[in-house]
Amino acid sequence: MDGGMQKRTILFVAGSIETVPAVKLANEMGLHTVVSDGNPNAACFDIADDRIVADTYNVSQSLQQAMAYHRTVRPIDGVICVASDVPLTVATIAQALGLQGISVTAAKLASDKLAMKERFVRDGVRVPWFTQVHSAASLKEVVAQKEILLIIKPVDSRGARGVIRLLRNVDLDWAYQQARAHSPTGRVMVEEFIEGPQVSTETLMLNGWAHTPGFSDRNYSLLEKYAPFVIEDGGDLPSNLPAEVQDKIRTLVQKAAISMGVVHGVVKGDIVVRDGEPMVIELAARLSGGYFCTHEIPMNTGVDLLGAAIRVALNEVVAPEELTPRFMKCISQRYLFPKEGRVVAIEGVASVSKRPGMEFVEIKVKPGDIIGKMESHPARAGLVIASGDTRAQAMERAAQAVQDIVVKVE
Ligand SMILES: Nc1ncnc2c1ncn2[C@@H]1O[C@H](COP(=O)(O)OP(=O)(O)O)[C@@H](O)[C@H]1O
Ligand SMILES: [Mg+2]
Repeated sequence: MDGGMQKRTILFVAGSIETVPAVKLANEMGLHTVVSDGNPNAACFDIADDRIVADTYNVSQSLQQAMAYHRTVRPIDGVICVASDVPLTVATIAQALGLQGISVTAAKLASDKLAMKERFVRDGVRVPWFTQVHSAASLKEVVAQKEILLIIKPVDSRGARGVIRLLRNVDLDWAYQQARAHSPTGRVMVEEFIEGPQVSTETLMLNGWAHTPGFSDRNYSLLEKYAPFVIEDGGDLPSNLPAEVQDKIRTLVQKAAISMGVVHGVVKGDIVVRDGEPMVIELAARLSGGYFCTHEIPMNTGVDLLGAAIRVALNEVVAPEELTPRFMKCISQRYLFPKEGRVVAIEGVASVSKRPGMEFVEIKVKPGDIIGKMESHPARAGLVIASGDTRAQAMERAAQAVQDIVVKVE
């Protein structure tokens, strides 16, 4: 026992490279940090105070290890996940240790797109038309009946893996197999593909009220290039959507979070807008990846959403005012999409990083790595985040930066 007050302890379930800034922040907040990850070389293991090696998708294994740590090393005061979609593991640990957290029921809804959307329909939360498909044959029947563009996806995956637009030239047997292969439970659904602007939201629910400082227009300018896969190329903040549409999105997120059962905690929304009316594509019960919560939101608004979410996980009080944007700085994020092949050199990073407004550059590949087909988000090779005096300037800087960082392949 040390004489003074013991540091409070936070457990991060999953500690990949995108979680590093969150663990660093928790360290700066004076917390004792523990990271659990199945990968013994997880990026966060270098900076955490303690490490637990456990498969983050294996709920019972993660729970056992967390409980053993809690009993024998030091008591855990809060549990959270950042940039990894493991709400069920987090909720189960929180429940078992008597910590603040969303219910296991809510976490299950967040982990199952079909159950989530059925709940949303029940509660009048607008979603695209959807149905489960049990075979390629039943998929063909649905496609024949519906005269709308459909999108197929695994019920329980992430990162756009196995998400395919069913354009005319797409082989339906192949699409079904692709989606099914990415579902751990072998379940597949189709939805109406909604044309229109897409938005990422990130919200901290406080006692039933949604506070949404995270609001980004997603960039899908590469949609046709990588068709039929659905590849996002970053986003731009603040949103360009009319104020009334933004208000409708905030109201929709509020309603969706309550419908899912998240009254106190984080929800991350994928929203699409058609004819000025938003719909929920999905609502995740975790903090975002892609450096949205760690970089883009604080740069854009001055709001420390991540710190606030960590404090909520520790059952500390967060005032709603803390989540009100303090300013609106223009931020643009774009990804690197090298050609397929083996990486032989990466050029331009140092000089691009020094440019005005260049806030963040990350290269995820190194010489010798193989760049494969661009079929899901983890395949993107790196990213830049730029700021500017105007949206146009931030976007121009980010676009120029990804052009001038050259990933040479052979
Ligand atoms: N019904 C839809 N209409 C329009 N775009 C969609 C629809 N469903 C999915 N998408 C696009 O595909 C992306 C990935 O699908 P999503 O359901 O969010 O799965 P994941 O869990 O892999 O993120 C979404 O972010 C969105 O851009
Ligand atoms: Mg999504």
